[in-house]
Amino acid sequence: MAIIAGNWKMNMTPSETKRFLEDLVPALKGAKHTIMVFPPFPCLQAAAAALEGSKVILGAQNLHHEEKGAFTGEVSAAMLADSGCDAVILGHSERRQHFKETNNAINLKIRRALRSGLQPVLCVGETDKQRESGETEEVLREQLNGCLKDLPKDEVKGIIIAYEPVWAIGTGKTATPDIAQETHAFIRSSLEKLFSKATAKAIPLLYGGSMKPDNAKALLSEPDIDGGLIGGASLDKEDFLAIIRAAD
Ligand code: PGA
Repeated sequence: MAIIAGNWKMNMTPSETKRFLEDLVPALKGAKHTIMVFPPFPCLQAAAAALEGSKVILGAQNLHHEEKGAFTGEVSAAMLADSGCDAVILGHSERRQHFKETNNAINLKIRRALRSGLQPVLCVGETDKQRESGETEEVLREQLNGCLKDLPKDEVKGIIIAYEPVWAIGTGKTATPDIAQETHAFIRSSLEKLFSKATAKAIPLLYGGSMKPDNAKALLSEPDIDGGLIGGASLDKEDFLAIIRAAD
């Protein structure tokens, strides 16, 4: 069984969310996979209402690591949970790049999410420059070590990790199944070193970066690719459904 997750980024209004999900949910009948959607904050309540009674898991795209307080413009884990979320994307490369999120800040967010009953989807990945200069493994090791620092083994098991090479996000340039598999295997072995073999096996590893209906099957067939985190193609109902079918 795969995990197919849609990262909507800054797309869709609450009314578009309602229409989209009311259309999507009936089409998912009989789907064997775990389906997750991550709409923007103002759309969460509309999404929760549209998803009621379905098995689709609702998540947000970020949170603040503090419980509450004077953080104008920020959103807390409790707000997300009360809006119907069970998961949250953390450390997406767009947040690292545009909002200067560090591994340390992401570690605090992961702790808050776990304490609040939200499943973190931690994103890691290298830039094209880093891959070209042979730094991919070092970058990933640093991201994993920093973001998962001092987390207890039993809690880490509740995390999902998405490998998203920055050069493949929104570019139409997908990692080949070989490159993706090789990198996922490296992430799995790093998790084994950090925690244990059983923990490394229990953590689902998603691939993200221009996953589309025509490349999904090959990527999802790789042994260490347990699903996909899909941006652009998750905004098109037919494309998203085709990717879910490719996971069969
Ligand atoms: P993309 O985005 O599928 O549009 O490349 C993936 C992501 O950033 O999660």
